[in-house]
Amino acid sequence: MIFVTGGAGFIGGNFVLDWILGDTPMSQQDSVLNIDKLTYAGNLETLASIKNQAKHVFMHADVADRARMSQLFKEYQPKAVLHFAAESHVDRSIHGPGDFIQTNIVGTFNLLEATRAYWSDLPSDQKADFRFLHVSTDEVYGTLSPTDPAFKETNAYEPNSPYAASKAASDHLVRAWHHTYGLPVLTTNCSNNYGPYHFPEKLIPLCILNAINGKPLPIYGDGQQVRDWLYVKDHCTAIRTVLEKGTPGQTYNIGGWNEKANIDVVKQICQILDEIKPKLDGTSYANQITFVKDRPGHDRRYAIDASKIERELGWKPKETFETGIRKTVQWYLDHPEWVEGVVSGNYRQWIDLQYATPKA
Ligand code: NAD
Ligand code: TYD
Repeated sequence: MIFVTGGAGFIGGNFVLDWILGDTPMSQQDSVLNIDKLTYAGNLETLASIKNQAKHVFMHADVADRARMSQLFKEYQPKAVLHFAAESHVDRSIHGPGDFIQTNIVGTFNLLEATRAYWSDLPSDQKADFRFLHVSTDEVYGTLSPTDPAFKETNAYEPNSPYAASKAASDHLVRAWHHTYGLPVLTTNCSNNYGPYHFPEKLIPLCILNAINGKPLPIYGDGQQVRDWLYVKDHCTAIRTVLEKGTPGQTYNIGGWNEKANIDVVKQICQILDEIKPKLDGTSYANQITFVKDRPGHDRRYAIDASKIERELGWKPKETFETGIRKTVQWYLDHPEWVEGVVSGNYRQWIDLQYATPKA
């Protein structure tokens, strides 16, 4: 069995679905204990297609609850922990950083301690094979100028948002648990993901849904901020590759080699929608683009140098941005029931708070 934390969220959910429904024969597949607190970002609807699969067990629990985590280790005896659970939205971290400190730092600390207690008592062969894989972000490296080289694993940590600082802290804890206690950890730092089951508070799903609902497409500041975008399924294969082949104690940057300015991302979404779901009045969805107040401390550019994982572990992304974004737009058009399930009371409150004054 493996533990997956945060497996009802966007990336963890995609990872669990791929793990359970993917190409590996079921008989060779480890079971998954999916540990999730089900915050606003966790949705069991994402896991509906594997509800009756014996190899997937869902556990409603908080990673910060060390006693509970220890009890789960005792009961299920995992050979690996894949730690996705986190508070993940930068704008929410600006409005209220407390949950980010609690889950991303205290939660990771408690999970590491429960893991260490379990791992220390394993027989030596199982001890050597055990892995704790920590899923992190490129945002820990801070921001780049337009001409700076892309982030390498050796870049200094310079986090700028409460979210990025909390993830940076968790990365440091994971590193220290390896260095001090010998825990076999792996850390991945990935760029912006997009794809199915992405909670519609983030740029890409927000703009797809706002577009088809005739609402403004809010672009922060001048829209020239650059992100590297990776299709979520590619992130999931990268994580599996690191789990199988990564060297304990190492970190691996993961990216899509797809740097794009926000305004270009949104224009591309509009173009695809103009083509596959044209508006009845013949106008473009791009007319809904609205420039709004910038995010405080908004990082200008992220770029990932993913050559280490390609060179050492043989992973590279399959999707280009063009193929991935088309699949993503189509997925949102095809899954109105999933969208309906997640845009609940909490979601509406957030949208009202964040986009109350849509003026540049
Ligand atoms: P998400 O917000 O969609 O999902 C997070 C999940 O964690 C939710 O299901 C939530 O219920 C669960 N969770 C939150 N607090 C918890 C707690 N205390 N105990 C147990 N479960 C808890 O996030 P995501 O986008 O899927 O990101 C997953 C991981 O990947 C995060 O660690 C994030 O920092 C990292 N990451 C995300 C991106 C991205 O573009 N989304 C990029 C790089 C790295
Ligand atoms: P987001 O999806 O929140 O990811 P992150 O902040 O982790 O990169 O935002 C992606 C980019 O899009 C980021 O530069 C902020 C910008 N953005 C907007 O311009 N408008 C929006 O409404 C949102 C949510 C984000």
